[in-house]
Amino acid sequence: MSSVIVLIGPMGAGKSTIGRLLASKLGFSFLDTDHVIEERTGANIPWIFDVEGEAGFRDREEAVLEELVLLSDTVVATGGGIVERQSNRDVLAQLNNVVYLTASIDQLVMRTSKDKKRPLLQVADPKSKIRELLSLRDPLYRLVASTVLVSDGLSPKMAAQKIADSYSV
Ligand code: S3P
Repeated sequence: MSSVIVLIGPMGAGKSTIGRLLASKLGFSFLDTDHVIEERTGANIPWIFDVEGEAGFRDREEAVLEELVLLSDTVVATGGGIVERQSNRDVLAQLNNVVYLTASIDQLVMRTSKDKKRPLLQVADPKSKIRELLSLRDPLYRLVASTVLVSDGLSPKMAAQKIADSYSV
């Protein structure tokens, strides 16, 4: 049985912070699809969006997800748009431990407000964008998730503990 735990959810939900803590709690490795994409491309995400467009980024993301879910004893944090492609949803739906991490719109806005590295949020009204993306993606996250965790009011440590408690081998 696969011992990979995949964290999905919107930008600012805390997937990387909580994922790192969760991995160290379980003695697992931690990987982030965005970082793997950047390493392999030798460029950062804004550059990839600029030069290859969002579709180019999504192709890279799809290839990386397919590979990372085959690993053992690993926590994988994914980019917020991972559920947009049906092929990614098919891959995620087959796994036992897919955690949908989310938070209130206000929290998501607060946690991403100073960020310049998320191309989709470099718009005049990032709050509306976050709301729009979430209304499109929330049903998709729920379709493939085995657990849903709302992180408002939880420290990253507490959130990691809750996921560790719900982890099923
Ligand atoms: C994206 C989320 C980002 C990154 C890219 C696109 C999205 O990852 O993959 O900027 O479509 O929501 P995080 O969710 O880790 O910020």
